[in-house]
Amino acid sequence: MKSAEKLLDELWTTGKDFLGVRHAILGGAMTWVSERNLVSAISNAGGFGIIASGAMSPELLRTEIQKTQALTSYPFGVNLITLHPNLLELIDACAQENVTHVVLAGGLPPAQAIAKLKENDIKVICFSPALVLAKKLIKLGVDALIIEGMEAGGHIGPVSTSVLVQEILPHIKEVPVFVAGGIGRGEAIISYLEMGAAGCQLGTRFVCTTESIAHPRLKKAFIRAQARDAIISPQLDVRFPVIPVRSLLNKATKEFINYQKELIGKVDRQEMDLKEAQLNIEHFWAGSLRRAIIEGDIENGSIMAGQSVGLVSKEQSTQEVIEELLTQAKQALFSRFFIEQSDDKRLSL
Ligand SMILES: Cc1cc2nc3c(=O)[nH]c(=O)nc-3n(C[C@H](O)[C@H](O)[C@H](O)COP(=O)(O)O)c2cc1C
Repeated sequence: MKSAEKLLDELWTTGKDFLGVRHAILGGAMTWVSERNLVSAISNAGGFGIIASGAMSPELLRTEIQKTQALTSYPFGVNLITLHPNLLELIDACAQENVTHVVLAGGLPPAQAIAKLKENDIKVICFSPALVLAKKLIKLGVDALIIEGMEAGGHIGPVSTSVLVQEILPHIKEVPVFVAGGIGRGEAIISYLEMGAAGCQLGTRFVCTTESIAHPRLKKAFIRAQARDAIISPQLDVRFPVIPVRSLLNKATKEFINYQKELIGKVDRQEMDLKEAQLNIEHFWAGSLRRAIIEGDIENGSIMAGQSVGLVSKEQSTQEVIEELLTQAKQALFSRFFIEQSDDKRLSL
């Protein structure tokens, strides 16, 4: 007799072994949110927490790693942004603090960074927005991939999770592939595992945990929000590209639209050159994520959130979130296999 628990274990064995955890659920790094408290809580609950290093200096990152290690003896990773001017020094800090896994985010990682991580025996995980890039990254030596669809919170690509998994999962067997974007329940995790994923990464679902240091006003905004409120940053004119970020619609979003209108008008009237206008657009959101998450200014800050925000209904402990996901995952397996094999009732929860 096979239990749903055993089936789940088998489905994500590769992911569990790769991460060294009980459940192949990664707590996606979220700048300002994924610090020592949430990261250690996710790892202590059997998942894989990831520190978001954002714009941290190597020294700050070193401290954050040490403080996280003091709160958990389980594995966790560090997310580094490839555009960070001190990327190689950040890698040194990870190596010196015995970090086992690094996620490189924010664009195609430089080969030098991958090589340096590997020299230090650190497992390298990269985001892959398309199959050709997945293959390229494997050639460069990455140890695992994350495919993240546009349902996700934060910086996103143009393609949905449901399409990306079909494009990439059937063709990548060399390394474990984790799926992210729009995942809020265990049934969704099972569907991706059955398609060949090694595990899943969730961000939005962890923002309102009791261990998350996000401001109470931000947590309330998450709890109130529906999936449709998590929109992509609006772009008004093809000449002025906007970096696509998914966040909750608020006063700042509306001001961003007006600001773009104003700048476009200035360029059209030749009062400002295109480059300057573009730079101003890029700078509009500077510092705004901290404003929302830490200061709780949910009107003027950037409330990055994925569409799964609609599935966040209360503040609960990280342990509870993970247990809920596991119960739903096992229930999904149980129901499916129970129907298929109801004659011999070989499965039990
Ligand atoms: C508030 C917020 C901040 C984020 N910051 C980062 C980041 O710094 N680095 C990164 O790689 N991904 C970042 N992400 C993406 C998450 O790591 C994760 O992949 C994503 O949230 C998964 O999709 P979901 O939101 O639908 O669960 C962020 C997401 C949110 C909601």
